Amino acid sequence: MKHLLKLADLSREEIFSVLNLADQLKYERANGVHHDYLKGKKLGMIFQKSSTRTRVSFEVGMYELGGYALFLSDRDLQIGRGEPIEDTARVLSRYLDGVMIRTFEQKEVEDFARYGSIPVINGLTDYCHPCQVLADLMTVREYKGSFKGLKFCFIGDGNNMANSLMVGAVRTGMRFSIACPKGYEPDANVTALARQAGDVEIVRDPAEAAKDADIVYTDVWASMGQEEEREKRCKAFAGYCVDANVMAAAKKDAMVLHCLPAHRGEEITADVFEAHAEEIFDEAENRLHAQKAVLCKLLK
Ligand code: CP
Ligand code: NVA
Repeated sequence: MKHLLKLADLSREEIFSVLNLADQLKYERANGVHHDYLKGKKLGMIFQKSSTRTRVSFEVGMYELGGYALFLSDRDLQIGRGEPIEDTARVLSRYLDGVMIRTFEQKEVEDFARYGSIPVINGLTDYCHPCQVLADLMTVREYKGSFKGLKFCFIGDGNNMANSLMVGAVRTGMRFSIACPKGYEPDANVTALARQAGDVEIVRDPAEAAKDADIVYTDVWASMGQEEEREKRCKAFAGYCVDANVMAAAKKDAMVLHCLPAHRGEEITADVFEAHAEEIFDEAENRLHAQKAVLCKLLK
């Protein structure tokens, strides 16, 4: 593992290796055991979009591993004034041991990796969100014990989350089903790739996707950068809400996950959210453990 640009770059073995290390780090932290695995290492964190979880979990993760994290906003960097990513990559590679980037185009993280000489971690692009899905998989395994025979369902936009979840689900052996309106399907190439590895179903009816599901997942209707489409999207996604009807179709012991931030009353009802808050906030916590594992794999 040289970078984490997208989940599809990780083999099944690499995914399990990250998850196993994440479990170990979580267990040790709970028992007061800390490791300076990244002593003296410096991680740059470039943010071209807002963040609560990604920023704080990476910063705290580096601190806990004995390293240091620099928060770099595009409002302050020369990137925001047009300095090319290939130059930024070559400069920052001289100062840092690794970089995490949250941006719009996937090409930017790929270009940083191509021109720079340090490990690059994708902290969310319009295309995918691999760090979130590693935490999601970790949470599923924590609650369900294993991935074997599970059905993972996603209700809503075929966005960055859906793309990464689809790959993560099939690579770990789960069936994946998504309900989305026409025109909002996940990326066609990602779908084709996922279908080579497992069972992927795209349907229109949320209750059909949720039928006998073990995990019900949802995300916002309008992602960061799509603010102007908000009204149009709210209309298109009416009916794609994780509510009591969707949950009635899923298995009785189905868990509900959400990458957060959540919009109650849109993609999920307040009742469903609160009934599954424990799972959802464990999932948010697991960002820290999963990313510490990724940092160890890439920077140690
Ligand atoms: N889920 C997630 O990535 O949250 P943030 O946008 O707060 O980082
Ligand atoms: N799809 C959302 C995920 C946020 C973590 C977005 O890109 O805004």
